[in-house]
Amino acid sequence: MVMTSSLIEAVKQRAHAERERTSHPAEFPELPPVPAARYGDHEFFELERREVFGRSWLMVAHVDELPDTGDFRLIDHLAKPIVLLRTEDGGVNAFLNTCKHRGAALVTDAAGHAGRRLTCPYHSWVYGLDGALLGYPETQNFPPLDKECLGLTPVRCETWGPLVFVNLDDGAPTLHQYLGQVGEDLSELGDLAGRLHLVDRTAFDVDVNWKLPVDANIETYHVNTVHRDSAAKVLDQAATGIQLLGQGHSRMLITMQNGQSMGDLLPFPSLFDGVGDLPNAGTFSYHVFPNLSIVFSGLGFMFFITNWPSGPNQSQYHVHFCSSVPSNGDDSTQLNTQFAQINRSVLLEDLSVLPGMQRSIDTGSLDYVRLGYQERRIYYLHETIDRVIGVERVPEELRVPAVLGDFIES
Ligand code: FES
Ligand SMILES: [Fe+2]
Repeated sequence: MVMTSSLIEAVKQRAHAERERTSHPAEFPELPPVPAARYGDHEFFELERREVFGRSWLMVAHVDELPDTGDFRLIDHLAKPIVLLRTEDGGVNAFLNTCKHRGAALVTDAAGHAGRRLTCPYHSWVYGLDGALLGYPETQNFPPLDKECLGLTPVRCETWGPLVFVNLDDGAPTLHQYLGQVGEDLSELGDLAGRLHLVDRTAFDVDVNWKLPVDANIETYHVNTVHRDSAAKVLDQAATGIQLLGQGHSRMLITMQNGQSMGDLLPFPSLFDGVGDLPNAGTFSYHVFPNLSIVFSGLGFMFFITNWPSGPNQSQYHVHFCSSVPSNGDDSTQLNTQFAQINRSVLLEDLSVLPGMQRSIDTGSLDYVRLGYQERRIYYLHETIDRVIGVERVPEELRVPAVLGDFIES
């Protein structure tokens, strides 16, 4: 399944219709104020980390970050430490980065090459790339150990084309089920391993709650202000169309000004047929609950933004920039770097505003966040967070009432 031509047209029309709208939509409720403490409360942060990030499918890597058999990558920004390993059959396995002997971290570098096996740095227990315990020194010190039971603890791991996802919950649905409509719209992404190349990667700490950068990615109300000297020169803020999809996901198109085409600015070969010309019509993007933004820059350049909770008012901001053209050290490398830089500088404009907002929250200067119709994806994120945690477990004063159920389109 890809997007039908009538859906593609409807997405464009929605954005155009928004351009003409002059009043608040009569049928849409006034969004209840969102308690600002949801962006800084310690207990709520722990709930999110455990119940949301502990049970969602999370994009943690691009397969190009593990090109060869035995390559590993440490994922240390979740509630439990995870090691990703490239296996002999070309797949990716995920395990807790925890030795079954006494719990030493098996890898400590952010990335590297383990060869054919992983050896614990403490007492040299040895594991295969499939997690099996292969051996341990001085067997005479132990009664016969059940090696079957002492393999590394596996973590659910699935790839979607070039993207690697993990889920800490053994009982979670499949990634395909989780992605729902997003997976349908972008089903071609599943065939893009080896064709959508990782060309640049950004990762840094930001002193704000994980949701603040996410919020900035899922509304365009700020474009004419924050991005007045960059994105606002080519994008028409008012012509933004939004669809809330099932399971907390959503879709958005902010249209180019004056019928321009993103394709004219971006000379990358196309990778997609099934989304029509939406990625050329403007900035076309998806939010995958809870923390992934999939953003098209034309049909051959994309980036994937994830923001990770590290504390109530701290997070880690990651961007994977991907292109249909590999960076081979020639002109294509320059072009990829240039487009990554352009997009990165626009994203940094968002981040420059957010610490002031966090300070307002942390000092109790802001009681509620007030959201307009155009910011309803942010409300949808909050609603979904409470649903996933279980509303009754959310401290009463921090709850948001569910009001968007009738406005979900798939
Ligand atoms: S803790 Fe790993 S071998 Fe001892
Ligand atoms: Fe922005």
